[in-house]
Amino acid sequence: MSSNVDENAASTVIETFMQRTHASGEWDARAKKSMPGGDTRAASYYTPYPAYMARGEGCYLYDLDENRYIDFLNNYTSLIHGHAHPATVSAIQEQAARGTVLGSAAEVTVEHAEMLCSRVSSLESVRYCNSGTEATHLAMRAARAFTGKDTIVKMDGGYHGSHDYVQVNVQSDAAEDGLPRPRITTRGVPAAVLEGMRVAPFNDLDALENLLRVHSDGIAAIILEPVLGSGGGVEPEQGYLQGVRQLADTYDVLLIFDEILTFRLDVGGVQASVGVTPDLTSVAKFIGGGLPLGAFGGRQDIMAPFAPTHPQTIPHNGTFNGNNITMAAGMATMKAYGAEEVVRINDLGQRLKDGFNRAFQAAGMRARAAGLGSIIRIHWGEGEIRTAREAKAAQDAARDLPKLLHLELMNRGIFSAPRCQFAISTPMTEREIDAAAAVMAQSLDVVRPYMIEHTPHLLQD
Ligand SMILES: Cc1ncc(COP(=O)(O)O)c(C=O)c1O
Repeated sequence: MSSNVDENAASTVIETFMQRTHASGEWDARAKKSMPGGDTRAASYYTPYPAYMARGEGCYLYDLDENRYIDFLNNYTSLIHGHAHPATVSAIQEQAARGTVLGSAAEVTVEHAEMLCSRVSSLESVRYCNSGTEATHLAMRAARAFTGKDTIVKMDGGYHGSHDYVQVNVQSDAAEDGLPRPRITTRGVPAAVLEGMRVAPFNDLDALENLLRVHSDGIAAIILEPVLGSGGGVEPEQGYLQGVRQLADTYDVLLIFDEILTFRLDVGGVQASVGVTPDLTSVAKFIGGGLPLGAFGGRQDIMAPFAPTHPQTIPHNGTFNGNNITMAAGMATMKAYGAEEVVRINDLGQRLKDGFNRAFQAAGMRARAAGLGSIIRIHWGEGEIRTAREAKAAQDAARDLPKLLHLELMNRGIFSAPRCQFAISTPMTEREIDAAAAVMAQSLDVVRPYMIEHTPHLLQD
């Protein structure tokens, strides 16, 4: 939290957090000696320091000071069954006893691939890697190789991991007018990547068509998240994803859906819910059962060059690609996440949204819980959020309120993403959902003085 949030309401919240998490504070001081800022993952860092979690059981987490939290972070949506699901634990234990990675082809990898292809209709053929970042990187490479063109279109505010080419407009420039200009948003990325990237605003088919009309000769593919995740939880408008598919066909460019965040929302991903078939898809997160895993795939003809025997093969390596233990954990996890469970936790997501919205209303706050299915996001202010630019403007205007609320929720036993994103896991029941809604109502009371001072526009008169 920035230093201007150090007075009154904010300092009470921070002090309470520090009193409750003494042991974490000590580890944070120690961590700073061997890691920059004591951190190794930007998204899970928050000030004054992140709580050190000691163990997880089902939908609960316990920190080093034995504080208990209902876990709505779920490692950024990737723990679909929460922690230590018995089937996943057994699968890991059994595989560990036979060797974690045998450095050779494995039956369980084939079974995992069959499972993915049977669930996602666009996945005719898949390949494995070890993260979502690699999956989008390789999907983009596959598109370039197939089309013989270099440029990729991404959305303003789209997040596809941490490889260089997608560090363009990860954050939208809320202050800019007109169409978003391509900008590198991470220092250390070579300017040359801008030559290979173009940027379109989400939910704007006209802007996308204009871009394709002028540049489609050099464009290999459009990559997009069906719902902008880190870009602010922006949902596609009715017909938008279908329109993108049509434009891709009209201008003869490939369409890549990055379903890394959204695959949990439908057995076949959001592409199944909206009836759009992309040419390539990237998936990751829960498919590894809590271990690192990414996969990319799609049309047979596009994926064919990854065959080692292909005359123009694209060599794709990775020491741990398709490793036995991750595949075993992923299989056990996916088997336990069928259509019924998908619907059940999506319904719990709706219940959480309703509960939060009642709390905002009762507190006279201009805020709204939004999101699809089992992933909930808070939008600050009134009105629909259609683009990453609008999401960022609303987020900026909320100043440190989301961070403060995140910390106060933790003080009351609710753990979410610091950006106030909540992911449901299958061990949750209505009890945990209603508890979270009640805690939200209490927490809003605590942060109200901060709002009066710093974000009065979010309070009704
Ligand atoms: C849509 C999307 N794409 C790509 C990634 C990157 O995945 P990973 O963190 O496994 O590299 C993420 C991670 O949150 C994501 O949400």
